[in-house]
Amino acid sequence: MLSVQDLSIEAVNHLLNRATALEEMDPQLRNHILPKRRIALLFYESSTRTRTSFELAAKALGADTTLVSSLSSSIEKGESLKDTGLTLRALGAETIILRHNSSGAPWLLEQTTHLPVLNAGDGMHEHPTQALLDLRTILQRLRHGVDHVDEGTLAGVTITIAGDILHSRVARSNMLLLPRFGAQVVVCGPAQLLPDLAATMGPGIRIERDFDKALRESQVVMMLRIQAERIAGLQLDLEDYKAGYQLTGQRLAALAPEAVVMHPGPIIRGLEVTAGVADGPQSAILEQVRNGVAIRMAVVERALLAQGERA
Ligand code: CP
Repeated sequence: MLSVQDLSIEAVNHLLNRATALEEMDPQLRNHILPKRRIALLFYESSTRTRTSFELAAKALGADTTLVSSLSSSIEKGESLKDTGLTLRALGAETIILRHNSSGAPWLLEQTTHLPVLNAGDGMHEHPTQALLDLRTILQRLRHGVDHVDEGTLAGVTITIAGDILHSRVARSNMLLLPRFGAQVVVCGPAQLLPDLAATMGPGIRIERDFDKALRESQVVMMLRIQAERIAGLQLDLEDYKAGYQLTGQRLAALAPEAVVMHPGPIIRGLEVTAGVADGPQSAILEQVRNGVAIRMAVVERALLAQGERA
């Protein structure tokens, strides 16, 4: 699972259905799906949701997990990604879940270790399991009861992704995934955070600079944090930014009173979204977090069972 582009529509269907089956399964039975299989979580960047939910997902299937974080391992002493991966494999890891600050790092790790690698976010590139859990959240809110998705499942649904699109791997994975199910994706933000990418964007995606206009036509609004850690020398007046792009209760009530509000987290309350909106009835933010465990159970199972079949 390096990119959502690796997944066919049927593969997405399988993962969504498997997520539901695993979520509903008796925990005692579920615990015997991957008994004592060894999973390494290799995290070069901080994480709360992705790391915890991958770990809970793997343990719910009976697997053993170990965490290697860049701040408390020999990575601090200069050990390379390749050597770290080979070391984890020598220690018995059967799959590696990787978060890395460099785009493409999961590809390198897979090529050097020949293990299944699950991309838990690579630089500004992709975050495939986040897009899958976002899709599950949208389906639960807007297409409740649908148990098979195809190219038309999200027809008529406009999803605005607003904020720091440039640095967002979540935006990129969602832009690659959601239009395949018929959704229209509107990306919205100031030029500093959303350069004119029109030439490189795929079908079903367009830029709208006016947030109020985008909100008026949206059934889903996905807010993104400004990624200060990836921004060097960016000139952005935060008060101007909030005036143009903050999702406030007033904006939401006036322009999109029925829209589902999403955010991959972490939220910076009072910047991209107000506390009232984050905690309000339209917010699906904690549903997204919960869906992370179900989706990641399905993804981990797929990686390890596929590996068993290869062996
Ligand atoms: N959505 C997400 O990736 O959150 P974390 O950085 O906390 O894992």
